[in-house]
Amino acid sequence: MRKAIYPGSFDPLTYGHLDIIKRSAEIFDELTVSILDNKMKTPLFSVEERVKMLEEATKEYPNVKIDSFSGLLIDYAKKKDVHVAIRGLRAITDFEYELQIAQTNQLLSHGELETMFLTTNLEYAYLSSSAVKEIAMFHGDLSMCVPEFIAKQMYEKYGH
Ligand code: PNS
Repeated sequence: MRKAIYPGSFDPLTYGHLDIIKRSAEIFDELTVSILDNKMKTPLFSVEERVKMLEEATKEYPNVKIDSFSGLLIDYAKKKDVHVAIRGLRAITDFEYELQIAQTNQLLSHGELETMFLTTNLEYAYLSSSAVKEIAMFHGDLSMCVPEFIAKQMYEKYGH
């Protein structure tokens, strides 16, 4: 069985992430989208809220599972017996950061964890979770960025 992990913060999940999820789920037999529980950051949504959000948004994809992890991705992947991590690349600005993470993971895992990059659909190349948060903060239009139920939750967080 071909398995992959799509790790990330997903704070919040955007249409860009969803596009990567949908396309990866067509390539792999089982895709685990896993939310990093990062103790160093203060997220807008708790891990539990993000798990629910991702479960709702991916319910139509039977081979997509939602999970969370803390610590190193290579340790988590080893525990799950998965050897491929998926990451989306939007533009050249993502490349340096992604290359560094991928090469570090390759080194630390002794080649056990490969990173596969999918180029983000041009339609969503402009999207980032931080831009989406800023738009929500000022009650801007989120209809092109996130599913409606996520937009609603974001506006609530910002008191709109
Ligand atoms: O959505 P993000 O915040 O760009 O995702 C980054 C993520 C979660 C993929 C990356 O930070 C990660 O894998 N963190 C876990 C810690 C780790 O394994 N670090 C070693 C690689 S530098």
